[in-house]
Amino acid sequence: MTESALRIEGLQKTYRNSRTGDVKTALKGIDLDIPRGSFFGLLGPNGAGKSTLINIIADVTVKTAGKIFINGLDMDTQKQAAKRQLGIVPQEVVLDPFFPVNEMLEYQAGYYGVPKAKRRTAEILEKLALSDKAHLNSRRLSGGMKRRVLIAKALVHSPSVLILDEPTAGVDVDLRIRLWNYVRELNRQGTTVLLTTHYLEEAETLCDHIAIINHGEIIASEEKSSLIGRLDEKLLTLRFSQPVTEVPAALAKFDASIVPPTGIQIRYHAREVSVGAILQAATQSGLEIVDLSSQEPDLEDVFRHLTRDAA
Ligand SMILES: Nc1ncnc2c1ncn2[C@@H]1O[C@H](COP(=O)(O)OP(=O)(O)OP(=O)(O)O)[C@@H](O)[C@H]1O
Ligand SMILES: [Mg+2]
Repeated sequence: MTESALRIEGLQKTYRNSRTGDVKTALKGIDLDIPRGSFFGLLGPNGAGKSTLINIIADVTVKTAGKIFINGLDMDTQKQAAKRQLGIVPQEVVLDPFFPVNEMLEYQAGYYGVPKAKRRTAEILEKLALSDKAHLNSRRLSGGMKRRVLIAKALVHSPSVLILDEPTAGVDVDLRIRLWNYVRELNRQGTTVLLTTHYLEEAETLCDHIAIINHGEIIASEEKSSLIGRLDEKLLTLRFSQPVTEVPAALAKFDASIVPPTGIQIRYHAREVSVGAILQAATQSGLEIVDLSSQEPDLEDVFRHLTRDAA
């Protein structure tokens, strides 16, 4: 059996407010397997439990129950070795305001015992477009710069598993592309990447595996293609040579609606209905088709569908 890069078993987290006695169960016994070398997206609505999960892995939040293994190393009994495998970029930006960026990275590398000769401070800064900020104290950086410094910090010890909690929040378009190119390069070189993001298009482009978490439960975890394939509802739009004011009888058996002035839109399940049958029915109605377009479901459609069902 090949070991997972990250394996989570029965992970639970209950937050208790000692003052009010309020209890909030943020993780309800989660199982998750992240294959080595994968680019894994963990998606979920606000408050679903993503950061709680990541902060437990990062050892800044204490779990209530469950087990975590990093490359087979037990986070409870082999914590130091397990943590060395990890580079984690938290959602909340916390940086020492009085340290210049490059010193911060050098310090971090020292903390992980990376010998001076093996440090990659300049290279990492360059990849994250921070070279010209190397000597600035972090309090002089903009929000997007601080987030990139956080990413740089997570990379100094060349972790085999990189965990990014909303790394592109507040990062501008060009730098986001640059950042993703770099993370992709790391992934190609073997780094396992776990990513949370609310930019579903980004997740769809980057990730090969996707898990969806909702109300502290994993409601899907599979290869991206199979997840998107779950939703086989498609949309076909036909445009005719003349205005249509009502759905012709021949098309009434489909889920069809008028798109004024000359269009009809048909929702169908590819498993049940063929496009050929729809086109044939449209032709039978005596209307002349002048154009057609079809729309496939994307990750956003599946995400909405699954999180709505589970609500
Ligand atoms: N320190 C805490 N004390 C009490 N409840 C908390 C604490 N941190 C998080 N929670 C609660 O746990 C749940 C999960 O929060 P979490 O931050 O893990 O969500 P998330 O999926 O990361 O959301 P977002 O997309 O907004 O970042 C939420 O209901 C949140 O209010
Ligand atoms: Mg979060």
